[in-house]
Amino acid sequence: MTHTTEQSGQPDARGAATAGTPQTAPAISVSGAYKVFGRRPKEVVKRLRNGISREQLRSQGTAAVIDASFDVQPGEIFVVMGLSGSGKSTLIRMLNGLNDTTDGSITVFGTEVVGLATSELRDLRRDRMSMVFQHFALLPHRNVLDNVAYGLELQGVGLEERRKKAQHWLERVGLAGWEDRLPGQLSGGMQQRVGIARAFAAETDILLMDEAFSALDPLIRREMQEQLVELQQELQKTIVFITHDLNEAMFLGDRIAVMRDGRIVQVGTPNDILTDPANDYVAQFVQDVDRARVLTAGDVMEPPRAVVPGSAGPRTALRTMRDLQTSACFVTTGARTLLGVVRDKDVLRQVREGGTDLTDVLRPTPSVVRADQVISELFELAVESPLPVAVIDEQDRLIGVVPRVTLLAALTDLPPVTTEIPVIEPLPTVTSAMITETLATTQTAASGNAPLVPTEETL
Ligand SMILES: Nc1ncnc2c1ncn2[C@@H]1O[C@H](COP(=O)(O)OP(=O)(O)OP(=O)(O)O)[C@@H](O)[C@H]1O
Ligand SMILES: [Mg+2]
Repeated sequence: MTHTTEQSGQPDARGAATAGTPQTAPAISVSGAYKVFGRRPKEVVKRLRNGISREQLRSQGTAAVIDASFDVQPGEIFVVMGLSGSGKSTLIRMLNGLNDTTDGSITVFGTEVVGLATSELRDLRRDRMSMVFQHFALLPHRNVLDNVAYGLELQGVGLEERRKKAQHWLERVGLAGWEDRLPGQLSGGMQQRVGIARAFAAETDILLMDEAFSALDPLIRREMQEQLVELQQELQKTIVFITHDLNEAMFLGDRIAVMRDGRIVQVGTPNDILTDPANDYVAQFVQDVDRARVLTAGDVMEPPRAVVPGSAGPRTALRTMRDLQTSACFVTTGARTLLGVVRDKDVLRQVREGGTDLTDVLRPTPSVVRADQVISELFELAVESPLPVAVIDEQDRLIGVVPRVTLLAALTDLPPVTTEIPVIEPLPTVTSAMITETLATTQTAASGNAPLVPTEETL
C-alpha cells in the first residue's frame, strides 16, 4: 500500500503536534468570522457587533455565522455540532471558500483564505482540503471509480495511478465491485461512501466532512465512524467534521464546537462538554448522549485498594483481603507492574500449608484494560469477572480499577466517581474469622507448636 506509507511518512512533524504542543501553528485558524446572507451583509455585521440581535435583523439578511473564533490543530478531528440551521454547513464552506466570509479572518496553514481570488481558492480546495458534502455532490455522468479519482485527476495524477488509488479507497469504504456503476444507480448511503472515498483519495492534509455519515443506515454508520477513527490513527489528517448527532460528535471528536443560531457557544473536549456544559442549551444536548461511548476507563477509574506487592507474601495478602472484605486482590511488582490476582481461598490454603511465595497461587487478571478504552467496551469484562476491571498504563502498571458499580454510575447523571456509592468489591468466600484464626494458628505452627488443621472441606 504505497498510499498509506506515503501518507504516514509525510506528517511526522504533525504527529507531534497532535500531542497538543501549543507552539505548533494551527492547521486552520478562524477569528471573528461572520457570514451574512443578504443584500447588505457588512451593514448587518456592524449591527450585530452593536448588540442588535440576529432576529431583529432578519429582514435585512440571515446571519448564518456570527463572530466565530477557533483553531483546529494539525492531526485533530474537530467536530462542529448543532441543530439544523445553526450555521454548520455555512461555516465549513467558509473554510474552503465555497462561501465567502463577510468579515473576520480564516487562515489555512498560515494562508489567509478570506479575499483570495477564485483561482487561488480552487488550488486550495484541490491541493490542501477535500470535502465530503452533505448532499454527496457526485458527478452524475461519471462512473463510481472516476468519481473517486476526480480529485486526483484535477491534481494532474496519471490515469493508471489515480485509478489504482481510487480502487484502493473504494475497497476501504466497502464498495469494491461497484466501480463501473453511475452514481444514480447507487443508494444514498452508497453515494455517500463514494464521496468519502473521493475525499480520502485526494490525499489532502485537511478533510472537511459535512454530515458525511448522516445518509448511512445505523449499522454502516457505526462501522464508518470506527473506520474513520482507525484511518485517522494511521493517516493523522486534520478533519473538520460536521454532525447534528451528539453521539457521533462525542465518539469522533478530539474537540467539539457547539453552534446555536450562528454562534459557537462552547468549544471543548467531549468530556468537557459532557461534564461541564457551558449553558442549558448544551446541557440539553448532552442529556441523551450515550456516555458509554464517550467516557474512558481513565475517566471513571478509582484508586485500586486491594493490591499487594508479590514480595509481600501470602499472610499480608490474606490480611489485606480480610480487612477490605474482598475475595481477591491484585498482585504487582514493586514498580506496580500488574502480575495477576490471588484469591482468598487459594491464599488461605497456601498459608495453612506453610507456603511463602504468593506468586505460586497467582492467577491471570480476569479483565484488564488501558486507560483510553471507552467504557462501552468494559461491560462484558465486568460481567465476566467478579473483580473490578484493572486499568493499566503503557508500562503495564496498575493505575486504577473500575468496579461494576462505578460503571453503572457513569451511565447515569451521577458523577462517575462518587463517595455516596459504596464500592463493592467481590465478597469474601471465606469469613474474616476463619482468616484471623488461620493467621493466628499458622503463626504458632510456624514456631513449631501447633499442628496445621486440614481444612479443604471447610472452605
Ligand atoms: N445560500 C444561502 N442563502 C441564504 N441563506 C442561507 C444560504 N445558505 C444557508 N442559509 C441560511 O443560513 C442559516 C444556516 O444554514 P446552514 O446550512 O449553515 O445550517 P446547518 O447548521 O448546516 O443546518 P443543517 O443541519 O440543516 O444542514 C440558515 O438559516 C439558512 O437558511
Ligand atoms: Mg448543513
